[in-house]
Amino acid sequence: MVRRSLRVNHVLEKELLFSEKTIQGRVTTLAEEISSDYEGEEPLFIGILNGVIFFFADLMRAISVPLTMDFLRATSYGSRTDSSGVVRITKDVEVPVQGRHLILVEDIVDTGLTLSYITRKIRAEKPESLKICALIDKTERRQKEIAIDYCGFQVRKGFIVGYGLDYKEHYRNLRDIYVIKG
Ligand code: IMP
Repeated sequence: MVRRSLRVNHVLEKELLFSEKTIQGRVTTLAEEISSDYEGEEPLFIGILNGVIFFFADLMRAISVPLTMDFLRATSYGSRTDSSGVVRITKDVEVPVQGRHLILVEDIVDTGLTLSYITRKIRAEKPESLKICALIDKTERRQKEIAIDYCGFQVRKGFIVGYGLDYKEHYRNLRDIYVIKG
């Protein structure tokens, strides 16, 4: 019988970009901003899976206004490091969106193709308002203009891992954020 190895066979060199402390500081600031902007409202946060998990969990718990949450999962065809722009929703939002103050929460915006597709689709469901919160705004390869209302960090380029972000499903569990070298 041939046993498949579970060992990671590609240990990539990576460099620290944002420490856990820096990330947590930024999350607190974003949560304060959002809480102040939505005073008196009960916004609906939609986390875009999978990369958003830790950012979403930390952000939601730091927000002081009442809120509800749901998730959406989208996959983009193409190689792991290059989005093709052809997006497929593999888990849709399950709560009614119409008339709600919506905030889409994304891990990283690269070309903008994924978020552009998702926002177009969700706008058709007539939310009262729609804003975007992204942990990382990676600007160099942007193809679709995306107005990011709440941005954690801006980077120009590089492949980023950690704090939910993966390379071929690895490195999501790291507490800090790194850029892959080379
Ligand atoms: P976009 O459609 O090109 O904006 O790509 C968005 C999606 O690609 C993100 O939600 C991530 O899943 C993935 N992605 C883009 N850049 C990176 C990166 O540097 N690290 C990890 N995932 C990335």
